[in-house]
Amino acid sequence: MRRTPLLFLAVCILAACGNNHQPTATTDSIPNREWWKEAVVYQLYPRSFKDGDGDGVGDLKGILSKLDYLKSLGIDVVWLNPIYSSPNDDNGYDISDYRNIMKEFGTMEDFDRLLKEMHQRNIKLVMDLVVNHSSDEHSWFKQSRSSRNNPFRNYYHWWNAERGKPTPRWSFFDVNSDAWKYDSLTNSYYLHYFSRKQPDLNWENPQVRQEVYNIMKFWLDKGIDGFRMDAFQFVAKDTTWPAFPPGYDRNIIKYYGMGPHLHEYLQEMNREVASKYKMMTVAEGAGSTLQDAMDLVDPDRHELNMAYHFEGMDVGHFDPNYSLPEFKNVYSKWDSAFAQKGWVSIFLGNHDQPRMVSHWGNDSPAFRELSSKMLTTFIMTMRGTPYYYNGDELGMVNIKFSTIGDYRDIATINSYQHLKATGGDTAAFLQANKRSSRDNGRTPFQWDSSANAGFTTGTPWLKINPDYTTVNAAAEENDPNSVLNYFRKVVKLRKENLVLVYGGYTVLDRDNPDVYAYTRELNGRQLLVLLNFKGKIAAVKTGADLSHAKILLGNYPDPSTDGNLKPYEAVIYALE
Ligand code: NOJ
Repeated sequence: MRRTPLLFLAVCILAACGNNHQPTATTDSIPNREWWKEAVVYQLYPRSFKDGDGDGVGDLKGILSKLDYLKSLGIDVVWLNPIYSSPNDDNGYDISDYRNIMKEFGTMEDFDRLLKEMHQRNIKLVMDLVVNHSSDEHSWFKQSRSSRNNPFRNYYHWWNAERGKPTPRWSFFDVNSDAWKYDSLTNSYYLHYFSRKQPDLNWENPQVRQEVYNIMKFWLDKGIDGFRMDAFQFVAKDTTWPAFPPGYDRNIIKYYGMGPHLHEYLQEMNREVASKYKMMTVAEGAGSTLQDAMDLVDPDRHELNMAYHFEGMDVGHFDPNYSLPEFKNVYSKWDSAFAQKGWVSIFLGNHDQPRMVSHWGNDSPAFRELSSKMLTTFIMTMRGTPYYYNGDELGMVNIKFSTIGDYRDIATINSYQHLKATGGDTAAFLQANKRSSRDNGRTPFQWDSSANAGFTTGTPWLKINPDYTTVNAAAEENDPNSVLNYFRKVVKLRKENLVLVYGGYTVLDRDNPDVYAYTRELNGRQLLVLLNFKGKIAAVKTGADLSHAKILLGNYPDPSTDGNLKPYEAVIYALE
């Protein structure tokens, strides 16, 4: 096999080969093109991004001061986690006023300026819509609980205690895992799938749905570009409250997800809101089957734009020695289910997950950068809209707290308390949470090597990862080979090669335990992506003659061309 001269490869990479690629003459023939399919979404967790006023909590002024950074990434859309008024039982996912800004985050003037300045930079803004539940401090709930006859009573799910105890429902965040909370004021129980301070809204009440549509219009009329809909698969409920079989809580999506009338509600929302604006919609979760997901996003049904499924998150959640073929099977299965119609999201991190490099890569100093770049290559070369979580572009890693006192996340804290109260193994719990806790993904963004990583001049609300002295944006900015600059290159490559957005996907050497290999093909143009998921040299059989392939990008200065990949190597080739 003829080897491509290394000098050629080096020149090719320095010149960012592929970035000057002529768009295929036939892009007009791509059916069903949409801006939200071609966009790269950057998820911004405001509490941890940048503190503008020194109180230790990220805020809108902080984001405003970093808009040029966001622009420099090449991303198209920012998904902003909730910034609405909230007592912060669950970091903003407990909203007490949907038309106001959380005090810690700033004012509506700050928001208006943020939106305007993002749009000036051609960055779209997608907001979180959290309407499975509100805060118990929302005026609706205060009214609702005040008496059984209050006009807002039916905004939530109540069960009168004289009927006995309601059918058990499991709660994600409750210390007793009980989703029914007794309220002596009206001698009734209310439902809360999440914390006690997050009572579930009653979507079966048409007034509630109208309230939600009006809230959506309020923000859309300001000019925002879409919604990520929190816990949306749970909103519809069977209010006859049937009993679920023992162990249902181990398969909660099956029992809580895709309740009766969900599709009617989504179609109503689409008619009343989405169809009237140029916007994108993505719901968190996609049911428990591929058909569930398709039913949400089949364009003929007029519900949502794209599915955001979690099946990939389960692979290796607790196990660093997860099976790569299992990982490949999940993504290959989802790709083929949506190859003809519908659309999915591709992500490896968000604010509910540990850091992607600690989960699927290798966060040791030797391999952190290489494996971060490799995972970034995966996200940016799959079919589906990439959702990239802030901080992953620096290769941020899990903080791995040792004591419960360091955690701030209600999910981790309440599970720990539950375990302690029931005599469980708290030491094992703490060990497991070094890998899986949500706080691993929430530590403040590492801007530079100054005190508190340049995140705040105050005391940060959550400890900062001590590796910030070397892992930070300022240091990476100055290093052409940094994770940050690699991210920019691969985003640019995706934007300039529609084959990476729309091209057909074919997995190769599927059972290979170390390497993920696939092609993307569109109108005769074929790209090959090779990703070594292991910290050792690994061989892959693709059948392609790589010696003639053009290298578009790689995470080593001398990308492999003989099918033997270096540890955590990632290469994107254009096959002639
Ligand atoms: C999903 C959100 O992503 C998570 O952060 C939150 O705790 C729950 N929904 C409840 O809103």
